[in-house]
Amino acid sequence: TEQQDDYKARIRALLGQHNAVLIAHYYTDPEIQALAEETGGFVGDSLEMAKFGQQHQADTLIIAGVRFMGETAKILSPEKRVLMPTLKAECSLDLGCPAEAFSAFCDAHPDHTVVVYANTSVEVKARADWIVTSSIAVELIEHLDAEGKQIIWAPDRHLGAYIAKKTGADMLRWQAACIVHDEFKSRALLELKARYPDAAVLVHPESPEAVIAIADAVGSTSQLIKAAQVLPHKTLIVATDRGIFYKMQQACPDKVMIEAPTGGDGATCRSCAHCPWMAMNGLVAIHSALSEEGGHEIFVEESVRQRALVPLRRMLDFAA
Ligand code: 13P
Ligand code: SF4
Repeated sequence: TEQQDDYKARIRALLGQHNAVLIAHYYTDPEIQALAEETGGFVGDSLEMAKFGQQHQADTLIIAGVRFMGETAKILSPEKRVLMPTLKAECSLDLGCPAEAFSAFCDAHPDHTVVVYANTSVEVKARADWIVTSSIAVELIEHLDAEGKQIIWAPDRHLGAYIAKKTGADMLRWQAACIVHDEFKSRALLELKARYPDAAVLVHPESPEAVIAIADAVGSTSQLIKAAQVLPHKTLIVATDRGIFYKMQQACPDKVMIEAPTGGDGATCRSCAHCPWMAMNGLVAIHSALSEEGGHEIFVEESVRQRALVPLRRMLDFAA
């Protein structure tokens, strides 16, 4: 609409004025991903977002995603101003792993190596030995397991179960879940697959074990987009946030993509394959963040940042 175009034009001008760059996750709405691309910004998975922000010469990073992504950007780039469309964009994994309780859990198992998912607060990261995203979780745990390490894994229970199964590593696992991926249903997925016998099933590993078991490809958002390109199948059933369809369809214009079934009927489910916190990243919110209105900037206490930086650097080195 005209109003949207007006906001986009104003955001474009403000990005220039502030030497700012827009970095968006695949789960944000298509118009936000398009805006990031059109303005010289970036769209990617959580690991790629962190790398892009660190390497970019902008003075201000505007992170369209959820709070842990803004915090990760700030940990890596303390000299940059990190803004978010809204600081209310949470993540159920982050909320499901409070720093104090987690720290006490780690204290109770002092001989364990602590590995946490990127979807955590900076305080939880500060308590960790390693941070991983879904794109490197299996490889890292394999590596630590081969070294004979005893491992604490937090917070995603499905990703934890998946890694344990893949690697055989014996891990103490925290039991939080993503409210979006937790909704995918295996029985309905099998029924859908029966209707499309030639389709490949692509699944993000935050999904329940029974859903992962049906998958032809399991991986981070970027890895799923790559799988969509590489697999010979013309039809893809996709179990992750529907925001991914924007870039996946661009990458594979000739393929047919179908959303994997969730438990809800639209009226009852909490998420229906779209993260309510990712959905908060609209044009108005981005404009507001860039307009010097308060309440958008990420601040991280310096001593906590220093501690969180250690495992985060380990992750980036491992991923390199
Ligand atoms: P990716 O690391 O695959 O981007 O997933 C992170 C996530 O779940 C963001 O919601
Ligand atoms: Fe967190 Fe799930 Fe939303 Fe990703 S999709 S931000 S894991 S709640």
